[in-house]
Amino acid sequence: MKEYVLVVDDEQSLRQVLELFFKKEGFEVDTASSLDEAEAAIAANAYDLVLTDLRMKHPDDGLKVLRAAVQKNPWTQVIVLTAYATVETAKEAIRYGAYDYLTKPFDNANLRKLVRAALARKEDDAGRRKALRESVRGTSAYEGIVGRSEAILGVFELIDRVAPTDANVMILGESGTGKELVAAALHARSPRKEFPFVPINCAAIPENLIESELFGHVRGAFTGAVQTKKGLFETAHRGTLFLDEVGELPQPMQSKLLRSLQERTFRRVGGNEDISIDIRIVCASKRDLQREMVEGRFRDDLYFRLNVIQVIVPPLRDRREDIPALAAHFAEKFAGKHGKPIVRIDGEAMRALLAYDFPGNVRELENLLERATIMETKNVISVGSLPPNVTKIVGSDSVPPDEYQESFPREGVFLDTEMDRVEKIHLLKALEKTGGNRTEAAKLLNISLRSLRYRLQKHGID
Ligand SMILES: Nc1ncnc2c1ncn2[C@@H]1O[C@H](COP(=O)(O)OP(=O)(O)OP(=O)(O)O)[C@@H](O)[C@H]1O
Ligand SMILES: [Mg+2]
Repeated sequence: MKEYVLVVDDEQSLRQVLELFFKKEGFEVDTASSLDEAEAAIAANAYDLVLTDLRMKHPDDGLKVLRAAVQKNPWTQVIVLTAYATVETAKEAIRYGAYDYLTKPFDNANLRKLVRAALARKEDDAGRRKALRESVRGTSAYEGIVGRSEAILGVFELIDRVAPTDANVMILGESGTGKELVAAALHARSPRKEFPFVPINCAAIPENLIESELFGHVRGAFTGAVQTKKGLFETAHRGTLFLDEVGELPQPMQSKLLRSLQERTFRRVGGNEDISIDIRIVCASKRDLQREMVEGRFRDDLYFRLNVIQVIVPPLRDRREDIPALAAHFAEKFAGKHGKPIVRIDGEAMRALLAYDFPGNVRELENLLERATIMETKNVISVGSLPPNVTKIVGSDSVPPDEYQESFPREGVFLDTEMDRVEKIHLLKALEKTGGNRTEAAKLLNISLRSLRYRLQKHGID
C-alpha cells in the first residue's frame, strides 16, 4: 500500500515542489494551504506522514496542525518546516511530538533522509503498538488501567506518545471514567517518574485557600499562617502536577496560574521572592472546558496553554468490551479486601452488567462489585446481589436471558417481527429513562432525532 502524506503550506510554490517530491517518491499526496484545510483533511483521512509549515497565517498554525494530527492518530509522524528565525518554535514542536523539523531552504536529499527516518520510526511504533496490545492482552492492565477495547487501547497509545514529551495534557471524560488513572500513567511513563506526582482537586478546596495550597505561604501572610508552608507547586518540582477539575478554578487563580506557567516561577502568599519551578501540568475536567472558555468562565489563554494535547477517556457504555475484564478485576480486588472466596461472576450477572449503561462509569461498576462481593454468600456473584436498577434491564422482557439465547432461533420465528419487537422495547425504555425527552432518547440509542421520530411513528408510540 502506498504511503499517504499531507503537505501543509500556505505558499503555493513550495506546496507544488513538495507535492512533486512526494509523488516521485511514490507517495499518495494531499495538500492543504491553511490550518483549516489541514484540520479538515486530517479529520477525514489517515495519514502516515504530515509535513507542515510552521508559520502560516499565524505563527503557531503549524503547531496546531501537529496537534490535530497527533490527536487524530498518535502514530502519524509529523515533520515541521521552518525558516531559520523560528527554530525555537520548531524545537517546541518536537517537545509536542513532532518527529523533527527542517529549516528552509532545504534540499531534496535532506528531506528524503528525514522522511525515511520518520517512517522508520512509524514502523518501530507499529511494532511497539503490537507489543503494547499483546502485553495488555497477556496481563490485564496498563499502569493499573484495566481494559482491552479499541477505545482504551487508543488512550494507551496516546499516553505512550505524549508521556515522554513535556507537553501539558488535558484529560477529558465523564465522571468515573478513569481520568486520574490516565494522569498517573502519563507521569509513570514520563522522564519525571522519579519525582512526585501531585494531584490536587480544584473543586474540593475552598476558594480562599487555593492560592496558599498551590503556592504555599510565608509566616504571617494571614491570620493562622504561623509557619512558612510549601505549596503543591514546590512539592511537584521536577514532577507532575495534576490539576483535577481545573474548570472549577476561580478566575483570579486562573490568572495567577497562567502567569506562573508562563514565567516558570511563582511567589508564596505573602512572599516577595520569585521561586523557579520545573513542573509538567496535567489537568482534567468533566466539564466541556471549550464551552466554559467560549462562555467566558475559563480564560482562553490558560485553556490553550493547558490543552496542548487532549486525551479523551470514553464512557464505559462506549466500550462495553471492557466490562468483563473490569468486573473480574474488581471482584478479585474486593474478594481479597473483604476476605471472601469469590471465584467468578456467573453468566446471567455478566449479561446484566453488559447490558447496563453505567452513567457513573467505571467507578459505578467498582462500587457495584464491592457491594456484590460483600452481599454474596456463595463463591459466585449472581444477579441476586446486583442492584435492581442494573438487573431490571435484562429481566425486563419475558423470557429469562439464558434460555432466551440458547433457544435461538425459536421455532416459527419471524425475524422481522422479532426485530421490531426488540426495537420497540428499546424505544420505550429509552423514553422511560429520559422522562420522554426525545433528543436525549435518540442520544441514548445513538440514532438521529429524525430516525427516532420515524421509528416512534412506525410503532405508533406517542
Ligand atoms: N480502566 C480502569 N481500570 C481499573 N480501574 C479503573 C479504571 N478506570 C477507572 N478505574 C477506577 O474507577 C474509579 C474512578 O476512576 P478515576 O477516579 O480515575 O475517575 P475520574 O475520571 O477521575 O472521575 P471523576 O471525574 O469523578 O473524578 C477509581 O477507583 C479507579 O481506580
Ligand atoms: Mg477524578
